[in-house]
Amino acid sequence: MMKNKNYFFPGIIFLFLMGCAGMAANLPDADSPEAKLYEEKCTTCHRVAHPKRFYPSQWEHYVRLMKSNMKNKGMSLAPEDEKVILNYLKKNAR
Ligand code: HEC
Repeated sequence: MMKNKNYFFPGIIFLFLMGCAGMAANLPDADSPEAKLYEEKCTTCHRVAHPKRFYPSQWEHYVRLMKSNMKNKGMSLAPEDEKVILNYLKKNAR
């Protein structure tokens, strides 16, 4: 019985760390207003993708696509927010 306990805490800590890694805690310039805006506006429906996942032209495509996804859900993305987010993504893209 004692033996199981020894595995329990390291297991919990491991899961906790994995969870953090999955939550894009490692966005570039994570403390910048742009990164925060990106997280704020783009996590309503899914987790944020790391900017490095796509090329700048792909980000233009995705942000345009997401604007229509948002519209379909009765949400909106202010043009100035869109500009900040897109600039942030392209600056840190592949
Ligand atoms: C209204 C819900 C919603 C919001 C808000 C939203 N998305 Fe999405 N996103 C989706 C859906 C649904 C998909 C799946 C692809 C599709 O059907 O469009 C998706 C897919 C994506 C993908 C493709 C992921 C992949 O693994 O290929 C990217 C990149 C993305 N979104 C970026 C963004 C960005 C950037 C924002 C903020 C501007 C955002 N999303 C906000 C609904 C949303």
